[in-house]
Amino acid sequence: MTDTAAQTAAPTPSKRVFSGIQPTGNLTLGNYLGAIRNWVTLQDNSECLYCVVDMHALTLFQEPAALKEATRQVAAALIACGIDAEKHILFNQSLNQDHAELAWYFNCVARMGWLNRMTQFKDKAGKNRENASTGLFVYPNLMAADILAYRATHVPVGEDQKQHLELARDIAIKFNNDWEKPDFFPVVEPLILGEATRVMSLRDGSAKMSKSDPSDMSRINLTDDTDMIAKKIRKAKTDPEDLPRDADGFEGRPEARNLVTIYAALGNESISDALRDVGGGQFGAFKQKLADRAIAHLSPITEEMNRLLEDRAEIDRLLFRGGERAKALSAPILAETREVLGLVHH
Ligand code: TYM
Repeated sequence: MTDTAAQTAAPTPSKRVFSGIQPTGNLTLGNYLGAIRNWVTLQDNSECLYCVVDMHALTLFQEPAALKEATRQVAAALIACGIDAEKHILFNQSLNQDHAELAWYFNCVARMGWLNRMTQFKDKAGKNRENASTGLFVYPNLMAADILAYRATHVPVGEDQKQHLELARDIAIKFNNDWEKPDFFPVVEPLILGEATRVMSLRDGSAKMSKSDPSDMSRINLTDDTDMIAKKIRKAKTDPEDLPRDADGFEGRPEARNLVTIYAALGNESISDALRDVGGGQFGAFKQKLADRAIAHLSPITEEMNRLLEDRAEIDRLLFRGGERAKALSAPILAETREVLGLVHH
């Protein structure tokens, strides 16, 4: 493109939502309650982009065939949960290379000290830090690029992504300051919404429910059938006491807190309302109620997801169209960015 005026990005709407999810294994109830459910609600009053972040997944080795399959599964799950891929934009990250380009610029903005503080890197790299991929280290820079390639303003996530979003804010501020372009990138707002912002493992109330936990019994997957959901809830760790009557009674009882939080979130009620109903009761009866609620909520999603997965070519087409629409939004922002940086690009 030679016409600079034509490259000026259209004014971004005052609220543009972006969020991402990794295609590594099954989606869990944690992903659903902490993030996806809020993504669905935000569609009513904002322009939304939702991205299956396949390039982020590559920070740990992925079998190519499994990565493709997981990308389609996650896309199907998102649609089954209520993401509207026609009205909003749903795509996989690698379809729009603008993310990778902007991430490089951000590699040159973010400081080693900032990334050294990221707790998720420490968790994922574990003791073998020297052997972690450099991609894993700069992962949050790519995340900032995902968001800022669209000048998105609001990012709905679970509690565990908060630190990464603070880094995205720091990157935007430093970029705007260094190149003396106030407001070039927005300072994003994390949206951490609902009761279940950090759903914990069913086997250990002090560990996050995660698709990478080696124990499948630790999580409810969106692909689990009704028998499996009931079994996992029946076997969920508890303690010998009855359920407390108010939230103060959760002190030192992380498993009880977690199960009641899940129950409340599934019923769209506050924890204190849930406790008015189940507080003081025994775990056995409560677990039955929780299983009923989880099954009523999740079975229609699993069913729809399986139906969508019967036509994988249609999922691919849908993602591709989403990628094209995403690219149309980011291309002018990237062109402006190159100009600001002093790159000769036309
Ligand atoms: P990921 O794939 O680990 O998780 C996707 C979303 O699910 C939320 N989540 C949870 N919420 C509550 N309780 C849990 N146990 C739980 N487990 C996961 C996460 O907080 C997240 O919102 N780095 C991101 C993906 C990403 C992204 C982005 C997000 C890449 N680029 C840009 C926002 C904006 C990740 O690994 O999420």
